[in-house]
Amino acid sequence: MKNFLVTGGAGFIGANFVHLLLRKYDDIQVVVYDKLTYAGNLDNLLPVADDPRYHFEQGDICDAARVDEVMRQYNIDVIVNFAAETHVDRSLMEPGSFIQTDVYGTYVLLEAAKKYGVERYHQISTDEVYGEVLEGRSTEEDRLHTRSPYSASKAGGDLMCLAYHTSFGVPVTITRGSNNIGPYQFPEKVVPLFITNAIDDIPLPLYGDGMQMRDYQYVQDHCEGIDVVLRKGQPGEIYNLGTGVETPNITMARLILKLLNKPESLIQPITDRPGHDRRYALDCSKIQALGWRNRYNFEQAIEATVKWYVDNEWWWRKIKSGQQYKEYYERQYAGRELSR
Ligand code: NAD
Ligand code: TYD
Repeated sequence: MKNFLVTGGAGFIGANFVHLLLRKYDDIQVVVYDKLTYAGNLDNLLPVADDPRYHFEQGDICDAARVDEVMRQYNIDVIVNFAAETHVDRSLMEPGSFIQTDVYGTYVLLEAAKKYGVERYHQISTDEVYGEVLEGRSTEEDRLHTRSPYSASKAGGDLMCLAYHTSFGVPVTITRGSNNIGPYQFPEKVVPLFITNAIDDIPLPLYGDGMQMRDYQYVQDHCEGIDVVLRKGQPGEIYNLGTGVETPNITMARLILKLLNKPESLIQPITDRPGHDRRYALDCSKIQALGWRNRYNFEQAIEATVKWYVDNEWWWRKIKSGQQYKEYYERQYAGRELSR
C-alpha cells in the first residue's frame, strides 16, 4: 500500500498522472493537493471522482501548516510535485507568483518530505531550465542557462531538490520534460490554443517567424516516464524526458489546420515573445536506459490531441467563455498583429 501526495494534481499533467496511477495500481491511495488557481480544474479529475482510492484536498504548497496536516492525515509515503505556475508569457507579466510557488513552495514540500521521511520526493521539471539550445542536445549534466522568469523559478526548485538530497538525504528524483500536449491542457498553451481557435475560425497567433523548435510529446508518455523513474530511478538523479525530436511551431500550426480542414490563412504572425528561446532539445538516453520509450510520435500526439479537443468542447468552452480568460487573451494578444 502506497499513499501518494500529488501536488498540482488538478492541472493538466498532474491530472493525467492521477488517472494513470489509479488505472495501473490497485493497492494505493492518491491524494491530490491543489490550490485551484486559474489553471486548476476539478473537471480534469471527474473520471476518478468516485474512486474510493482518490481524495482531494484544496491547499497551497506554500502553506506549511496545511501541507503538514495533509501529510499526517494520509500517512504519505511519496510526494510527486506538479504544482507550479507554468506559463512563460504569464511569467513575463507577473513573475512574483512563479518565485513564490515554484521555488518557495518546493522548499515547503521538501521540508515535509524530510520531516516525514518519505520513500521518494519527485519533482516535475522542464527542459526550459537548460535555456535555448541552438545545436546539439541537453544532457542532465549541462549547465542551467535560464532566460525567462518561469524557467529561472523552475531551476530554483530543481536546485533546492538537489540540495535537500545532498544536505539531508531526502530521496529526491527530478524529471525534466519537454512540451506536453494532450487532454486537459489549459488553452493558453500553444497547441490547445491553436486547436480551439481553429475550430472557431479565430486566427492562430504565431510568434515571430514560427521557426522556434519544440519537442512536443504526448502527456501519457510523459506520465509513464515519471512512473518509470519512481520505480527504477536513483535518488539524487535527474532524468530528461522527451521524444528527442523537435518540430518548428509553423509545422505544428499547419498540421493542426490540416487535421481540422481549415485554411492556412488562419495563421496570424504576431510580435515575438521577449527573450523567446529558439530551440529546446533533450538527450533522453538516461531514461531510455531504464526501459522507457515514447509511444506517440509528433504526428500521432497532435492527432490524438486534436481529436480530444474536438470531442470535448464542453471542457474548453467553459474556460474560454469565462471573463478571466477573455481578459487574459486581450492583455496578451491585443495589437500584436504583424503584416503577413
Ligand atoms: P498547469 O498549469 O496545467 O497546472 C498546475 C497546477 O498546479 C494547477 O492545478 C494549479 O492549481 C496548481 N497550483 C499552482 N500553484 C499552486 C500552489 N501554490 N499550491 C498548490 N497548487 C498549485 O501545469 P502543467 O502543464 O500540468 O505542468 C505541471 C508541471 O509540469 C509543472 O511543474 C510544470 O513546470 C511542469 N512541466 C510542464 C510541461 C508542459 O508542457 N506543460 C513540460 C515540462 C514540465
Ligand atoms: P508554450 O505552449 O507557451 O510553451 P513554452 O513556451 O513553455 O515552450 O509555447 C510553445 C511554443 O509556441 C513557443 O515557441 C512559443 C510559441 N507560441 C506561439 O507562437 N503563439 C502563442 O500564442 C503561444 C502561447 C506560444
